[in-house]
Amino acid sequence: MANVIVIGAQWGDEGKGKITDLLSRSANVVVRYQGGVNAGHTIVVNNQTFILHLIPSGILYPDTECIIGCGTVIDPQILIEELDQLEKLNISTRNLLISETAHVTMPYHRLIDSASEERRGNQKIGTTGRGIGPTYADKSERIGIRMLDLMDPIGLREQLEWTINYKNVILEKLYNLPPLNTQEVIEQYLGYAERLRPYVVDTSLKIYDAVLRRRNILFEGAQGTLLDLDHGTYPYVTSSNPVAGGACVGTGLGPTMIDRVIGVSKAYTTRVGEGPFPTELDGKVGELLCDRGAEFGTTTGRKRRCGWFDAVIGRYAARINGMDCVAITKLDVLDELEEIKVCVAYEIDGERCDNFPSSARQFARCRPIYKTMPGWQVSTSDCRTLEDLPVAALDYLKFLAELIQVPIAIVSLGASRDQTIIVEDPIHGPKRGLLHPSGTPTTLLSA
Ligand code: IMP
Repeated sequence: MANVIVIGAQWGDEGKGKITDLLSRSANVVVRYQGGVNAGHTIVVNNQTFILHLIPSGILYPDTECIIGCGTVIDPQILIEELDQLEKLNISTRNLLISETAHVTMPYHRLIDSASEERRGNQKIGTTGRGIGPTYADKSERIGIRMLDLMDPIGLREQLEWTINYKNVILEKLYNLPPLNTQEVIEQYLGYAERLRPYVVDTSLKIYDAVLRRRNILFEGAQGTLLDLDHGTYPYVTSSNPVAGGACVGTGLGPTMIDRVIGVSKAYTTRVGEGPFPTELDGKVGELLCDRGAEFGTTTGRKRRCGWFDAVIGRYAARINGMDCVAITKLDVLDELEEIKVCVAYEIDGERCDNFPSSARQFARCRPIYKTMPGWQVSTSDCRTLEDLPVAALDYLKFLAELIQVPIAIVSLGASRDQTIIVEDPIHGPKRGLLHPSGTPTTLLSA
């Protein structure tokens, strides 16, 4: 039995979807613990491509229980579209459970998200426009609607009459937008409630029960460490906690019941939305990474900004999440390059800086200090073991492991499940406490 958290070690889009899909094979339960429909996994089933924003991709395995935890925010309209898509493909959703205390995204959240971004002008965050920030803001302000409120028609009516009245003042007076029709919204959401009712339960109890039954539980983070509200590049962050610590709060499971934390990191770096990005590449190489890596957002279709691997971020993510091991994805995207740079530290005003700065202003002033490595210029996409990799690619991976001081358990070399090198079973592999005295287990790819 192992309870494992999978987190993004960069700014999201690290390829967590593929890694969670791989690990889901050994999991009995997959739990999403934060975020909302700002996330997205592209899934291909029977040659049909569709996108899941909220439902864990573990739903594709018929015996895996999938849970949407209390730390998420739920847009019922999009969730219902996902359920309909799955049912059309004859994929059963009977193993899905939704937390009764997860908060609900309402139409005013989406409107306020877009309007406030517009109002910010060049101070904008570059949100996905899905109402995520305003839904979490209402949760903190204690005026949010939870799934259990949605299930109570009389209570919901009372609550929404007050809340929509209040939000209409903001829409009209602050943003010059037309007010929402309270009764229309109430009827629409009561309809959603009936469709979702069979799935809504106390999921923390279900998760605890799974722990007692010694099931393998996989906790799936959306977004990434640097988008974390507390530990990311604030204010250019999302409004939840994608870091490993968020899995406990976002599910109601105590930290002593977590066994391992697996980080996922691309072999280079990408970022969507605004905010500083020290290793960003503007020219030809950036374009090449974008093209070869198909770097376009799943949810918004926005082009992702691309740059070299940043080991300062890697070390920071390893520390903040307590990463036991890392999966390096998209190594094949680097195949054509003659040389590859890795940011080993920053320079701020002539001073070397090895640690990630807390201030976005200071971060914006960081200049990368690079080490240049030779490229391998052969295709790695058919490699299935470490021995198959060109020496320069193996050296590159070893260098990353040494820089971030975390062993590499998985290397991904393409989108399909088989384009993967499993260096060590990341779920049942050795824990930090059993590490080799040098600090890394001998079987894992380490420095
Ligand atoms: P929000 O989560 O829509 O409020 O957006 C806040 C920031 O997080 C923006 O920079 C978004 O581009 C970024 N973001 C949110 N979700 C994702 C994701 O799934 N991948 C990458 N970036 C994301």
